[in-house]
Amino acid sequence: MRDEFDYPVSNTFGIKAKAAHFVEYGVVDELRAVVRREACGAEVLHVGAGSNLLFLSDFDGLVLHSAIRGIDVEECGGETVKLRVGAGVVWDALVAHCVAHGWHGLENLSLIPGEVGAAAVQNIGAYGAEAKDVITAVETVDLRTGAVRVFDVAECGYAYRKSVFKTDLRGRYAVTHVRMTLSRRFSPDLEYGGVRDALRLAGVEPERVTPQQLRDAIISIRQAKLPDPKVQGNAGSFFMNPVVERSVYERICDEFPAVPHYEAGEGNVKIPAGWLIEQCGWKGRALGPAAVHDKQALVLVNLGGATGQDILRLCEAVRSDVRERFGIELCPEVNMIGK
Ligand code: EPU
Repeated sequence: MRDEFDYPVSNTFGIKAKAAHFVEYGVVDELRAVVRREACGAEVLHVGAGSNLLFLSDFDGLVLHSAIRGIDVEECGGETVKLRVGAGVVWDALVAHCVAHGWHGLENLSLIPGEVGAAAVQNIGAYGAEAKDVITAVETVDLRTGAVRVFDVAECGYAYRKSVFKTDLRGRYAVTHVRMTLSRRFSPDLEYGGVRDALRLAGVEPERVTPQQLRDAIISIRQAKLPDPKVQGNAGSFFMNPVVERSVYERICDEFPAVPHYEAGEGNVKIPAGWLIEQCGWKGRALGPAAVHDKQALVLVNLGGATGQDILRLCEAVRSDVRERFGIELCPEVNMIGK
């Protein structure tokens, strides 16, 4: 177990921020002991790899991080394999491991930064797949009492980039393990725009794609559009794609008949935030040391030395222009910490 005070919290935005107290635990009982010891005191923040966090200030409480590892096969037979994965496993290491073992369903989620616990909180998604499609249960510890609680997938309240752990029960439970069921039969999902093109570009016939080729194609799409946090600080998509009433979409269509969109159920339509931001002229534009990425306007980047407040200023400027131009409210996907 690691127990430090005044500790710099790592985050992919590259923002300097300190936690008054930082604990990294390796097993569930260590976490339960820390919770019992600290329960009546400090504010608690549980972090993963810091790939979806924006620190607006230092954090004057206890930051917890899971180093619970392990990808355990609970059952393997017939068409499926059931896994139990530690919350501290790096998400993309899990995807690579599963592809190598012939366990399928995660290929389209390749190269998403972060760890397995946070993936289950965030319901990460990309190229037509979401974590909730494979998750069957989430094991947690109650951060107020130290009690273990297992949520079956229905109790997790999953929706687009959402779960009960981000909404009603925010901050209450720490994920320790995620149970998932993958398929031993490969049935690739190539429907998302650009996936087939990326395969053809790599000389792969989509009808004959292998799991590793699909993973490689997803990685190449991401690398072409999304900045590498090791090179330029960022947290992936900064905003969620807004879901709007059809009348709002139709109003935009009058001016831009080719506006990209996806059906979102109940007569609603999802419009890519990146497209809205680009129409407002923000793509590639900077505001001080913060900028809108020049290849994907949904991503805000740290040009070097930005503070959380610099990123927030850019976020608000972009939101304000999108609101004024389209009457649509963009909601940040990134979790903001501090004041
Ligand atoms: N678009 C623009 N301008 C831009 C960016 C996008 O016009 O600057 C248009 C594209 O041309 C396309 C549409 O918007 O027609 C959608 O773009 P893209 O396929 O890049 O996906 P996205 O909706 O912008 C979402 C996820 C990404 C995920 C991709 C692929 C959210 C908030 N983001 O982005 O997730 O990788 O789809 O599935 O849903 C993340 O969460 O960090 C993330 C990167």
